[in-house]
Amino acid sequence: MKVCVVGTGYVGLTTGVCLAFLGHEVTCVDYDAAKVELLRSGGTPIYEPHMTELLAEAAERLSFTTSYADAVPGAEVVFIAVQTPSLPDGNPDLAYLRAAAESVGQHIGAGFTVVVNKSTVPIGSGNWVDAILREAFERTHARRADGEFSVASNPEFLREGVAIADTLYPDRIVVGSDNPRALDVLNGLYRAILNQTFTPPTFLPRPDEVGAVPMVSTDLASAELIKYAANAFLAIKISYINEIGRLAGKVGADIIEVARGTGLDARIGPRFLEPGIGWGGSCFGKDTAALITTAGDYHHDMPIVQAAREVNLRQRRAVVDRLLDELRILKGRRIGLLGLAFKPDTDDLRDSPAVDIAEQLIAHGARVALHDPVAAQRFARERPDLAPHLCSTAEEVFDDSDAVVLITKWAHYLDLDWGKLAGLMRTPRVLDGRHCLDAARMTRLGYRYLSVGG
Ligand code: UGA
Repeated sequence: MKVCVVGTGYVGLTTGVCLAFLGHEVTCVDYDAAKVELLRSGGTPIYEPHMTELLAEAAERLSFTTSYADAVPGAEVVFIAVQTPSLPDGNPDLAYLRAAAESVGQHIGAGFTVVVNKSTVPIGSGNWVDAILREAFERTHARRADGEFSVASNPEFLREGVAIADTLYPDRIVVGSDNPRALDVLNGLYRAILNQTFTPPTFLPRPDEVGAVPMVSTDLASAELIKYAANAFLAIKISYINEIGRLAGKVGADIIEVARGTGLDARIGPRFLEPGIGWGGSCFGKDTAALITTAGDYHHDMPIVQAAREVNLRQRRAVVDRLLDELRILKGRRIGLLGLAFKPDTDDLRDSPAVDIAEQLIAHGARVALHDPVAAQRFARERPDLAPHLCSTAEEVFDDSDAVVLITKWAHYLDLDWGKLAGLMRTPRVLDGRHCLDAARMTRLGYRYLSVGG
């Protein structure tokens, strides 16, 4: 099929590259000319494992442009995957979505086109995008838009860092539209994934347990709500185990054992029960805020979602409180932070706990030493004010430090020579923000081992 993808962020780029890999003819459009140039030359603007290899494999059927006129006419499916950042009031900023919908509406050509909202958009956005498309189409073409296109929602469930695997081997595909013809088109588009009939890339073999993928075909509003309900549930699950973790710390229980013993109940499941500093990233914070705001429009409150947000913020503050308890005075202390990205295998810094914690420590008068094996360059660009605190190696973070906090669970940090590094510190103290170091081993190596919670 001929496909257009608007926006080459994490979601748009992964969607475009995977669909081209599966055999569709894909044109990605982005207003950022530098990004388009980079992608044309085989580079990628984001750090995502296997993206460069998949780009190379799909290159024949994949093109990049800044021009809607080159991308939209003739496309049977147009994905809109532009950013929807949070506004201060908790609502997503829909300015990019509006601009994209207007441009798509102007360029839709002959033949039926399915316009798919892939960005996470507030419930009701499908209707809103439909109205914008219609208006732009009718203004440009000077005729009615009836039957020319239909809007569908196809929420994205990929996680950064494993985005390609999540796209090729998803738990499910959700599509929502009030037009059965649009649902048929999307069913055809995803057939190879639904039936798992494609030959997997050599670098990402199909996991043994992956079989036919279920497709949920539903109405627009339900598809839009599924996305929020799923992200909010995952955020609640993490905050729940973190709340239990704090109690575990009080009663002397081991939260890792508690999470394991709880998650083995098939009704609960072990995933997203990893305790620690909590969630960050561009999705959970934004989507839980938007869900609460949407509910507010209907005079409905969501105390569980609200509580998950509060617990998450509390986890970040707990790091600073733990250091205060331990060191008493933070002024003048050197505190090392290992990891800046909001999770491993990405260079994304949006709503990263590390940034929050660094700011809080600086406000307490501490000297911070920051490191990330992949996201440091992006960090220097996005936070020039904090860039002078960056260290070029993880070892430098330990040098003469009073405490080191492990914030992002990068494999690089687990493989460090912790024994040798203890000798570099003023006082060997590690706060394991992800419960991923072996406490007994750390103690043997001379560290005072700390965590948030049990
Ligand atoms: C999340 C969802 O998992 C995806 O399904 C969804 O498509 C995406 O948001 C989105 O809406 O675009 P993502 O934010 O990329 O994906 O990353 P996750 O793997 O979900 O991690 C989010 C945060 O939770 C990270 O900071 C991670 O460290 C933290 N986390 C995750 C925990 O603290 N504990 C866990 O058990 C799992």
